Amino acid sequence: MSLINKSIKVNKFMVKNRIIMAPLLCFNWADEDGFEIYDRSVHYGKRARGGTGLIIIEASAISKDARINETELGLWKDEHIPQFNRIAKSCHNEDSLVIVQLVHAGMNGTGTPVLSSSPVKVKGKECFEMSLEEMQKTKKDFVSAALRAKKAGLDGVEIHGAHGYLLNQFTSKEINQRTDMYGGTLENRLRLPLEIVDEIRAAAGDAFIISYRLGVNDPSLQEDNYLARKLEDAGVDILNVSAGIGSNNIIVPDDFPFSKITYMGTELYKKVNIPVACVFGIREPNQAEYLLKHNMIDMVAVGRGQLADPEWTNKAIQGDAVNVCCQCPRLCMYIIDGRNCPWYGKE
Ligand SMILES: Cc1cc2nc3c(=O)[nH]c(=O)nc-3n(C[C@H](O)[C@H](O)[C@H](O)COP(=O)(O)O)c2cc1C
Repeated sequence: MSLINKSIKVNKFMVKNRIIMAPLLCFNWADEDGFEIYDRSVHYGKRARGGTGLIIIEASAISKDARINETELGLWKDEHIPQFNRIAKSCHNEDSLVIVQLVHAGMNGTGTPVLSSSPVKVKGKECFEMSLEEMQKTKKDFVSAALRAKKAGLDGVEIHGAHGYLLNQFTSKEINQRTDMYGGTLENRLRLPLEIVDEIRAAAGDAFIISYRLGVNDPSLQEDNYLARKLEDAGVDILNVSAGIGSNNIIVPDDFPFSKITYMGTELYKKVNIPVACVFGIREPNQAEYLLKHNMIDMVAVGRGQLADPEWTNKAIQGDAVNVCCQCPRLCMYIIDGRNCPWYGKE
């Protein structure tokens, strides 16, 4: 039997197989007030029908000022709940679990003013240090968005702690230059994400998946290990390992057959007892099968592969060939608009 098709327990839920749809923003598919203009229940429902066990809905903003871009999906007010409820239903109808990724973009966002853990200049733009009051509001916004996700019928949330967004700006030694209890020591830099996990758990209860997208190499694997264990202790149910601010400097053994981001996932897998997912460049089922067979990881997140082929997981389980992502040379066409993807409509 394919190891991809083996169920796994996450929180109290059984995920029917080992494949996750990685969170993937659908650029230009929402208006400036966080409402979708293109029905995502179809987009995600197709991937659920394609067999994927756990769907992670794209980064969704916890407040208007927290957005990555002007067309990001919102979960900052109750009026946003129905669009997530439609997605929850379309995925649950296919027996897939579904959670939403919550984000505050910090210095890489559209806020006015743009805030970060510390004053920093990004592409010539001045970003200001978040005050303690603003941090309290941020925590409240994460919790409120998580409760809206629960109300929408989703199985949980993923806290975005990677890719240089706000929580990654707190954990990163390079960006975080604060001198208060949220900066300096490793313990202090981890404080805000851990407080957010605690508060979501307290508000949403036990039977609610909390995933954490952990940005690696900030500044070393040793510190990532510590964060991973702290997140486990705080009650995180799954670690979804991806790129951090220091990712360019990762050194990978010569014989490791995948990317450096995947490598870091497989290293963190050895350090915690909760399920760990890795990602990056896993385009074909035999790659996912290899990682599982060699006991390198618990779950495999597939991003662009899912965009090229909504049936990726069913085909993997059946041993059929998938549509292979074209790896558009300049950038993934979904970054302009998913409808420009060479596979869109032909999947
Ligand atoms: C179009 C696009 C949108 C993305 N949106 C998100 C996002 O919302 N949240 C996130 O954590 N990562 C996001 N990512 C990163 C993916 O989740 C994934 O880590 C990355 O694409 C590498 O995996 P892959 O090689 O399987 O595509 C995005 C990537 C792409 C190409």
